[in-house]
Amino acid sequence: AAAFAPPLVSNNVVSSSALSMSKVERNPNFTKLIGGYLFPEIGRRRNAYIEKNPEMASRIISLGIGDTTQPIPEHILSGLVSSASKLGTKEGYSGYGAEQGMAELRKKIADKLYGGIIKDSEVFVSDGAKCDIMRVQQVFGSRVVTAVQDPSYPVYVDTSVMMGQTGNINPETKQYDNIVYMPCTDENNFFPDIENLPRADIVYFCSPNNPTGAAATKEQLEKLVKVCKERGSILVFDAAYAPFIRSEGVPKSIFEIEGAREVAMECNSFSKYAGFTGVRLGWTVVPDELTFADGSKVRDDFNRVMTTAFNGASNIVQGGGLACLDDEGLAEIDTLIDYYLENAKLLKEAMESIGYAVYGGTDAPYVFVKLPEGKSSWDTFSEILEKAQVVTIPGAGFGPGGEGYLRLSAFAPRDTVIEACSRLKETLG
Ligand code: MLT
Repeated sequence: AAAFAPPLVSNNVVSSSALSMSKVERNPNFTKLIGGYLFPEIGRRRNAYIEKNPEMASRIISLGIGDTTQPIPEHILSGLVSSASKLGTKEGYSGYGAEQGMAELRKKIADKLYGGIIKDSEVFVSDGAKCDIMRVQQVFGSRVVTAVQDPSYPVYVDTSVMMGQTGNINPETKQYDNIVYMPCTDENNFFPDIENLPRADIVYFCSPNNPTGAAATKEQLEKLVKVCKERGSILVFDAAYAPFIRSEGVPKSIFEIEGAREVAMECNSFSKYAGFTGVRLGWTVVPDELTFADGSKVRDDFNRVMTTAFNGASNIVQGGGLACLDDEGLAEIDTLIDYYLENAKLLKEAMESIGYAVYGGTDAPYVFVKLPEGKSSWDTFSEILEKAQVVTIPGAGFGPGGEGYLRLSAFAPRDTVIEACSRLKETLG
């Protein structure tokens, strides 16, 4: 079975008679990418199924892409609305803002979410964590070796390929040459044996993890920081799911770990906190102490990318971000997250009730289901789509280490989660 999404259509090549072609050579890095980006590929498969079975269209339930579904709560919404309204007044109008974000929002992020362990000037407000990961890649360029958890959020690998850091994909292993894959499966409690893996320049690490739902403990993160420090690697910590952490003592930020300021930067996002997947607002923290081998600051180069290729997050949206961090906004975020965590619990219980081993779903919105030995995750995805009209994500879509697992997203509305649980039990039980 293919580890990555096998393309439904041949890879973007048009017939020469159809169009007159330019004389521009295609960026060879793009020819290395296998198939499309995972989530649109899932969407294409769902649409292909609906096209063949139009009578089933209204039955489709999505537990696929981790897209929020609950309305933006009142106080947070009022922040968006009032900053939009201000633009219609002479006094309130504003044009370009600071590329790094509004000073008030940077300060509020540093104070309210990090309790002062980072400085306002180290916070770069953006349009989301995914976009920031590409900007991080632009800072590091094409000559670095990247390490990723396997399975992992596909953006780390795909952007590494686009940047030209990798060789081709190896058809046997389904891994790109020149990327260090750090296996994370139930056998190692989803934490890599990092000391025994080859060194990488840049280590991407997501906790709570997408897709496995594993939230790394303090001891695990201490080990990660220690190994990165000993090896002179830079850790890019993705904390986009941090507010889902409910277990005591599990760090919500890498900066809770001693020594992290010298080795780590952190990407984060309001997407899953506050239902901002469409609104778009995120941030990246780059500490002053994080440097390159020549002693120059990573922060300065990240700032250079932001000021050159980004004009700052929308002023309307930053008003929403400010409201998120008021006490009322923070309480609304907690309520939203409780709702999605309850969904995760229902999904986990449903799969466990029919005998599956299930991971994640307690400090994360993703439930990671182990499939019976030898069962392909793409085949299981298709079977569930066809028999139960439930969209899931095959573990293999997140890299070869995800083969043998299925990811269920808890971001669906409650009634559809309940219905999906009963259909999954019927189909797989
Ligand atoms: C996912 O389903 O993994 C996420 O929604 C993707 C994302 O946040 O970009």
